[in-house]
Amino acid sequence: MLTELLYISEAVEYPAKPIDFGHILSRARQRNSDAGVTGMLIFHKGKFIQLLEGMSQGLTGIYNDYIQTDPRHKSIQVVAQGAIHARSFGAWSMGFAEPAAMQASMPLSLEKVIYQLMSDEAQKSRPSAGVVEMTRLYQQVR
Ligand SMILES: Cc1cc2nc3c(=O)[nH]c(=O)nc-3n(C[C@H](O)[C@H](O)[C@H](O)COP(=O)(O)O)c2cc1C
Repeated sequence: MLTELLYISEAVEYPAKPIDFGHILSRARQRNSDAGVTGMLIFHKGKFIQLLEGMSQGLTGIYNDYIQTDPRHKSIQVVAQGAIHARSFGAWSMGFAEPAAMQASMPLSLEKVIYQLMSDEAQKSRPSAGVVEMTRLYQQVR
C-alpha cells in the first residue's frame, strides 16, 4: 500500500551545533532510492518538517531504523500518516529546502505556509493536507 508520513522534529543543540545536511542527505537519498521512498525535507529555524512517501514496508523501515533513531533531532511528532493514491514527490529521493537561508528571494507567504504546517490545525487535519502544503511550499521555494 502506498503511504505517506509527515513529521516535525527539533534539531538537537540548535543553533550551537551546525547540521551537516550534505551528510544527512547523501545517506538518506541513497537509502530512500533503494527502498523506493520519496519525499521532501524542510529545515526552518531549528525545526525539521519531513514528508516521506512509499510502499508501507519500505517507508516504515526507513522511518523506524534511520529517522526515528537519529540523535541529530528530538521531539519527533508524526503529524499525518496514511494511504495515498499517488506520490507528490515521485522524482525526489529527498528534496531539501531551507527557507530561512533563502530569505532574500523568499516569497512572503512562505513563512505562513511553514507555520501552517506546524500549527495544531495542521496536526488535526487529514493526511493529504500535509502533501498539499509541502507541494505548495516546494513550488514556491524551487
Ligand atoms: C531530519 C533528518 C531526516 C532524515 N531523513 C532520512 C531519510 O529520508 N532517509 C534515510 O534513510 N535517513 C534519513 N535520516 C538519517 C540520516 O540520513 C542518516 O542516518 C545519517 O546521515 C547516518 O549517518 P551516520 O551513520 O554516518 O551517522 C534523516 C536524519 C535526520 C536528522
